[in-house]
Parts: sequence; structure tokens; C-alpha cells
Amino acid sequence: MKTQKITITVQIFESEKELSSEYCNLVEVAKQNIEHAYAPYSEFQVSASVLLDNGKIFSGTNQENIAYPSGLCAERVAMFFANSAYPNVPVKAIAICAKNKNGFLKTPIKPCGACRQVLLESEQRYKKDIDVILYGTEHIELIENVKQLLPLQFDSL
Ligand code: THU
Repeated sequence: MKTQKITITVQIFESEKELSSEYCNLVEVAKQNIEHAYAPYSEFQVSASVLLDNGKIFSGTNQENIAYPSGLCAERVAMFFANSAYPNVPVKAIAICAKNKNGFLKTPIKPCGACRQVLLESEQRYKKDIDVILYGTEHIELIENVKQLLPLQFDSL
């Protein structure tokens, strides 16, 4: 029997000002868009902004529904929005932030499993790593690809 250890690298920034101006702007866009969330059931707003290789930004927020599973997370709304508009342009980065009744969260939220699966598909489809930027008021985390967020992923080959 052998043991395999899997490690991931998370870059930690004290504030968005430490990010490149492109990523700082992406975080700002995600933060500004958060009021577009439709979250009457959880009262937990999530916003995600996707930066494409051509410089375009597409934002999405969580969209809930009275039939709970019919709602969709912010990350998938943003990804599908971007991929629908520019099906041939790779995704470069995604910035994610969340807010509860006390304001933006101190510690960044991480994308759920289903969203990681969708992000991974994009990475594989375009053969390009996606920078995942997770905003919190006390620090920002950056993971340089989705593979790290979903190790031991499904592969039909
Ligand atoms: N949510 C997201 O938008 N993204 C995630 O990665 C996890 C959770 C949403 C779903 C629901 O509208 C609310 O947050 C509370 O779970």
C-alpha cells in the first residue's frame, strides 16, 4: 500500500490592492454587482465575475427559487453567461465574494462542489488554467487553477 498526499497552494493577499490592477478591478466589479443577487430564502448574497481572455467581464449572482433546487449559484450563473456570449474565448479568472446581513464576509467563501465541476470543465475545454480569486474583507485568496480545488476529479478516459 502506498499513500498519496495532495497539496494545494493558496496565495494570500492582505487586501485587493496587492493584486494586479486587472484582478483588483475584477474583485471590485464582483463586489459592486452583489446587490443583483436574488436571495430571499437564504439572505446570503453571492457574486462572481468572470474575466475572459479578451478582457470582457461577465458577472453573475446567486438566483434562488421557491423550489429550492431550481436556483443557481453565482459562479455558475457567471460562467454560463460568459460562455454563452463568447463560446470560443477561454476564461482567465473568476472573482467571488459573499455578503450576509452583516456585510461582506471576513473570510472568503469557496465555490461549492457543483461550481468547481463547472469551472473545471471550462479549464479542460479551453486548456487554460483559471485563477480563482476569493474575496474576504480580512484577506483575499488566490488559487491558480481549478484542478487544485477538485483533486481526484472524474475523467472518463
Ligand atoms: N451559493 C453560491 O452562490 N455559490 C456557492 O458556491 C455556494 C452557495 C448560494 C446558493 C444559495 O443561494 C446561497 O448561496 C446560500 O447557500
